[in-house]
Amino acid sequence: MGNRPNRALLIFLFVTAPVFFSDCLGTNNSVDRSGQKAQQKAGWSTPITSVNTGVPSEKLHLEGAPDSIEGLTIQQFVTDSNVQVRADAACSECHGWANEAARLEFCEHVSEFLCTNQDGAGPKPQVLKDVLSDWKNRGCPD
Ligand code: HEC
Repeated sequence: MGNRPNRALLIFLFVTAPVFFSDCLGTNNSVDRSGQKAQQKAGWSTPITSVNTGVPSEKLHLEGAPDSIEGLTIQQFVTDSNVQVRADAACSECHGWANEAARLEFCEHVSEFLCTNQDGAGPKPQVLKDVLSDWKNRGCPD
């Protein structure tokens, strides 16, 4: 009887906590079980498009960047030093691990990607956060 309100509170927290804490750490490590469908979505070696991300083409091309993210795979923009999706530099110019990164290894970097302020230089570009957190949430498919 007396614990009814407590139970309601617990249920409330149970339902809402994942929403509160999902902002930047909300990636889960679920394995990619959706097969076919995930293949069509952006992946480590499946090109990112405005259709498979739902992000308009103009947003997939960051201002001042030589290359658009659209049409590239995650592997390409992370590991290829000739590809530059940010205005300032290619990933590998700032990160020694980028050139050699493998799919599951990079998958492990994504949570930090979502939260870092790059040592005060500002957060990572939002569109990259969106693409990478979605990829992570789908289990980092190929
Ligand atoms: C101009 C330099 C610069 C560029 C270009 C850059 N980053 Fe970063 N990045 C940083 C800094 C500084 C940090 C915070 C310090 C750190 O942990 O390395 C950071 C942090 C990260 C982190 C979290 C820390 C880690 O090493 O796991 C990831 C992941 C990351 N960057 C990925 C990328 C990717 C992918 C690209 C290319 C799209 C990129 N960065 C482009 C400077 C850069």
